[in-house]
This record gives sequence, structure tokens and C-alpha cells, in this order.
Amino acid sequence: MTTAIRRVAPTPDTTGTGRFPQGFTWGTATAAYQIEGAASVEGRTPSIWDTYSHTPGRVRNGDTGDVATDHYHRWREDVAIMADLGVSAYRFSLSWPRVQPTGRGPAAQKGLDFYRALTDALLENGIEPVVTLYHWDLPQELEDAGGWPERVTSDHFADYAALAARALGDRVKTWTTLNEPWCSAFLGYGSGVHAPGRTDPVAALRAAHHLNLGHGKAVQALRAELPSSARASITLNIHHVRPLTESADDVDAARRIDALANRVFTGPILEGHYPQDLLDDTAHLTDWSFLRNGDTSTIHQPLDFLGVNYYTPTLVSAATNEAGHHSDGHGVSDHSPWPGADQVNFHRPAGSTTAMGWAVDPSGLYDLLLRLKADHPAMPLMITENGAAFDDYVNPEGEVTDPERIAYLHGHLSAVRQAIAAGVDVRGYFLWSLLDNFEWGYGYSKRFGAVYVDYPTGKRIPKASARWYADVARTGRLPEGKNDDR
Ligand code: FCB
Repeated sequence: MTTAIRRVAPTPDTTGTGRFPQGFTWGTATAAYQIEGAASVEGRTPSIWDTYSHTPGRVRNGDTGDVATDHYHRWREDVAIMADLGVSAYRFSLSWPRVQPTGRGPAAQKGLDFYRALTDALLENGIEPVVTLYHWDLPQELEDAGGWPERVTSDHFADYAALAARALGDRVKTWTTLNEPWCSAFLGYGSGVHAPGRTDPVAALRAAHHLNLGHGKAVQALRAELPSSARASITLNIHHVRPLTESADDVDAARRIDALANRVFTGPILEGHYPQDLLDDTAHLTDWSFLRNGDTSTIHQPLDFLGVNYYTPTLVSAATNEAGHHSDGHGVSDHSPWPGADQVNFHRPAGSTTAMGWAVDPSGLYDLLLRLKADHPAMPLMITENGAAFDDYVNPEGEVTDPERIAYLHGHLSAVRQAIAAGVDVRGYFLWSLLDNFEWGYGYSKRFGAVYVDYPTGKRIPKASARWYADVARTGRLPEGKNDDR
């Protein structure tokens, strides 16, 4: 059962103190390809993002992750920064081609040693490591063999999950299979604005299914290798889809996008079946014969929590005669990331925007959290990403002041706190991102970090927002302030 998409009426904050619950996790997040660099050391083979970023015209300014923030060499400094900020957890991803070159066969011990040393240092500083197995860097050899549209990739992913669990399971208790499979499937194989850059709607739907299947098999593999105290999850960028008006056509456009963005994953993962409206909406493209008997029960594994990434709401209407655009927030393409939704227009919500052009709207996060509770009442939630890019710069005093980011974080954390007050079981929050980094198709032009990175030197400068966030993490409460509304 899923609820209709409607604006949920704001509920007043009834906690009085404004304090987050005891034990709330305060974290920061990164992903391997976005920060590590060291792209061709110690047996690491290319991933689809290496290939894509080295293809002229794909990434702004021709930027690549070859060096990135050089975290692979500067990780001790980065752990020290986190310890100084006093965060309680760090969400990072393993580079698949660094720990299992080519995506098949034996592990690369040097790659695993890197993550062992990193997790040890985190634990020594009281920071819980939260590992994502797949943040978009498929080994290129697996793409050459067909990539996520092919079923066999889900088996390779499960083998890799088992290998990682065997190597790190004594240190890492919290595991996430996939980050935002929507982006992998629909930006990677649909609109082509992400690696591997294919533009085939059926391949995108096949990829979505095989990512789901890979998730289910990987959870089984993790459970088989890890102690029963380990926690398994997936992170989804659940879109909060709003209809432009309450007209039946606009509400139906929102339903269609909700199916393609959200329920294509939450359906099989959390409820054990694909939503019928999704199958109907895409029936003219594919008969879904790649969905085999038993697949949905493999995908439907018990999870310890659901990871939710939220940046901005999605506003849609039925297509009018005016030219629509295939908004996906991650880049412009002539190809839609929404198979079977040609009759939907995307609109920019009113109000201020970040440097990505994304509307700042904490009410979308509040509404989304309440909707998830209504749809999946027993599932604990973790905000695994939230944050904003702004055009930060170092001032003559050598500081980076970023009041817009502080306002953004304040508004969204306030929404989280109020959702908790309204009864939603939110266990933690991870700020995206610890560091400025390689923002996929935008290269280094977008700065999401709480810590500024001077790319020519690699120097790190904590921004004002990093200090602000450290205070929130330390006290478990938001400072009084004008931004305390949704
Ligand atoms: C999310 C990605 C993350 C980063 C942020 C801005 O979709 O998971 O890597 O790019 O957006």
C-alpha cells in the first residue's frame, strides 16, 4: 500500500526543547570516486566513471576523478578533521575496482588494506564507519560485458559484497548495498548524463531491475558473512513528487513519476512486488520478461533501516503545449530519464535555489519523511545525504563563510526534528559532503563540502558551516534562529 501524493499539513513542533533524540547519529558522507583520486595505483582498474570522465564532452571542463581531493593519500588528515568536528559516523563507499579489479575474481589486498586502515582510524576516533558498497563506480570490464542491464552483473555484485564483508566485517557493522540506484539506472542508461552514458529506455528499466536483484543478493551475501548484529540497508533518493495543481491530469503525472522514481525500488525492496501501474505505464516499451519467477522474493530482504537522500522536491504537471524539459537535476540531455513519461512536464519550484539550481525547500523533506512513515510504518529511516552546493570562496582572511549553507542545513535539520516530533523514526543524519569533491557531470564546479578543498594544493579549510554543524552534533540541538521553520 502506498499513500497518495499530497502535501502533508505541517505539524507544530511539540518537543519544546528542540533536542534531537539521545543516540542520534551525526555524520558526514562521501563517495570513493568523488574524493579518492589515485585512480591507477596498486592494481585498481578503470570504472565506468573513469571511462566516462575521460570521454571528451561528458564532464564539465573535462574534469576527472584522477586526483580528486587526493583522499587516498590524505585520509589521515580527513579523519582528523572529522574527529575535530566531533561527528559520530562517516559514510563512505568502497571503490569496487580498487578492491576487486575488473569486478571478478580475487580481492586486491592493497585496496582492502586502505579501507582497513581507514576504518581502524575512524574507530580509534570514536567515529562509526558506514560503508556503501556501490556508489556508481562499476568496473569497466563488467560494463563491457553488458553492465547493469544484464542479469549476471547482479551475481558479480553479490560476490563482491561477500568479499568486502569477509575483509571488513570485523570492523564495519553498518552496510549499505547501493547508493541511489535510480541514478545508476535512469541517468546512466536512460538520459546518459551519468556513466556509462547510454540512452536506451529499456536498458534503463532492465538496469533498475538488476540493481534491485543485486541489492537482494548482496543483502543475502552480507547476512551470510557478517555477525547477526550487523546492519544492512540501501540508500534511495526518494523523490518527493508534487503535482503542480490538483487537476486529475497533474495528479496522474505525479503518480507516474512517483512510480518511476520511487516505487520501482520501494515496491520490490520493501513490499515484495513491482507496482502494477509501473508495469502498465511501461508496457509499450517492454514486456518485463527479464523479471523472472522468484526475483521479487530475492529482492525483498529484511532491512535494518532505509537510507534516504534528499535535496529538493520534484514538481510535475501533465504536458501542455509549451516545451517541457527532462529535468533530473543532474544535467541536461535530449533523452529522458523517465521511460514512458513523455507526457509529463517538470517545473522549477518557486523560491531560492542552490548553485545546482535546486530549489531550497525543507518542507519537501518533512513531507517525504511523513509519507515514508505512512507507507512503511515499521522501517527506521536514516538521512544518508542532505546538503547544498554554493559558490564558496576563500576570503582574504583565509576563511570560507557560507551563511546560505548554514541556513539550508538549519532549515532541513529543523524539518527532520519536526518529523521526529510527529512520530517518524529517524535515526541519524549525514551531511553531504565532508569535502568539496568531484560532482559527477559538473566536475569540480560545484562545492558541496562542509570543508573547502583548494584543488591545486589539496589544502582543506573547514567552512563556517562545518563549525556550525559541529556545534549541532555536540549539543544535539539546533541554535535558536530565524531559520527554524520549514
Ligand atoms: C547525490 C549523490 C552524491 C552527490 C549528491 C550531490 O545524488 O549520491 O554522490 O552527487 O547527489
